[in-house]
Amino acid sequence: MLNLGNRYNRLRYNLSARGRRERRLAAEVMARQLPPDQVRAVQERHSGVISKGEHHRKWLDVESHMQRAAREAMALGLDESEPLNILDIGCGAGYFLAVARHLGHNTIGLDMSDNEVFNDFIALMAIPRVIHCITPFTPLPDFDRRFNLITGFEVRFNWKIKRKSRLDRWAYDEWSYFLDDCRSKLAPGGRMRLELNAGKDASYRFLPEDIATRLRGVAGATIPADKSTITVAA
Ligand SMILES: C[S@@+](CC[C@H](N)C(=O)[O-])C[C@H]1O[C@@H](n2cnc3c(N)ncnc32)[C@H](O)[C@@H]1O
Repeated sequence: MLNLGNRYNRLRYNLSARGRRERRLAAEVMARQLPPDQVRAVQERHSGVISKGEHHRKWLDVESHMQRAAREAMALGLDESEPLNILDIGCGAGYFLAVARHLGHNTIGLDMSDNEVFNDFIALMAIPRVIHCITPFTPLPDFDRRFNLITGFEVRFNWKIKRKSRLDRWAYDEWSYFLDDCRSKLAPGGRMRLELNAGKDASYRFLPEDIATRLRGVAGATIPADKSTITVAA
């Protein structure tokens, strides 16, 4: 739950020029790509699904996710950039790609297909998506183009195998293979920016400290002290 300080900051941001632009952009994308009756149909189809709990249902809140996607796109400068080839890894429902496409970019997503809410929104918005499960030491699929930008938001694909409840995270070798592979998909001058899933305790524990330290030595890679992002330059 947001505390009062957070709520105040959110309200101030919403009223700022940037906050207003972000909401206008999100509203435009929804008006063009998400007919309200079809959104309602998807929401009704899944609102009774409680087996996956909040994890499943939170993605039905189209407005807030589209606003987040608009914020992410603007933070990357996509509202002011020439058309880019963009790949979004773990694209989920496709909200970010819908915004990027609306801004004139050439977009494709990559994800697994086990989340029915995501599948429905991807189909509703006709977001191009390659079905692929990222696994250690396995290259990403071949694409017919190189990318100027590879993104990933709230991603947490760095599992080896989920053994019972044990958290088995990638070690340095898995990460460095993956980052090299992604770099090979970048066009000259391209960049990758992964926003890692913060986890319940917001500690980014999915990327252990010692691995982050070593990955900072990978050519072109940058990881801030809080481990919230990994960026890679071509
Ligand atoms: C928390 S969701 C974020 C979705 C979207 N990026 C967003 O911010 O709205 C994480 C996404 O990563 C995808 N994902 C998780 N593990 C993956 C894997 N091994 N390979 C590909 N995608 C994966 C999930 O299917 C899901 O779409």
